[in-house]
Amino acid sequence: GRLVVLVSGSGTNLQALLDASADPSYGARVVAVGADREGIAGLDRAEKANVPTFVEKLADHPSRADWDAAVAARIASYEPDLVVAAGFMKILGEPTIGAFPVVNTHPALLPSFPGAHGVRDALAHGVKVTGCTVMLADSGVDTGPIIAQEAVAVLPDDDEASLHERIKTVERDLLVEIVGRMVREGWTVSGRVVRIGNQTG
Ligand code: GRF
Repeated sequence: GRLVVLVSGSGTNLQALLDASADPSYGARVVAVGADREGIAGLDRAEKANVPTFVEKLADHPSRADWDAAVAARIASYEPDLVVAAGFMKILGEPTIGAFPVVNTHPALLPSFPGAHGVRDALAHGVKVTGCTVMLADSGVDTGPIIAQEAVAVLPDDDEASLHERIKTVERDLLVEIVGRMVREGWTVSGRVVRIGNQTG
């Protein structure tokens, strides 16, 4: 399976996918890494792993629609079986969402606390359990069908950084497991329910 991974930040989820795919039995490998900005550790990780990279900055395009088309064209050129948005901080447009299955990861238990500050919002709400969600991306903000979730306890002394770090440890393992299983076993979507495996035929 061919993966294109999209990043906007430190890229530790990307690194986990790169590490997992070093074992051929994982069944998937990262064929390209795309970003919406330069100078991020995620791009350095790709280069260190000899994986080609591309950057499409929104500001370099006359319109959002033009950026959407450019991102989709870049992705398409690598012929992925699956696109993974791993800490990619932009909503993907129809040209990408409509053309490829896109897996997204979020550091909260959706549908609670969607958006860019899922960890901060969960802490501010005072929840005692939060976690991470792996979902299929759709055109909304963290609204796509949920594939898998894992719970993480909020500790009394947690701040946003400590809680996010603990969530990310769980999140990386879950993302690696789910992406691998999707590529190896296939998946079906019925309504909002995603089922891995059980492919007929
Ligand atoms: C992850 O928690 C992801 O869900 C998010 O930001 C973090 C990205 O981390 N929204 P990294 O860039 O993979 O290290």
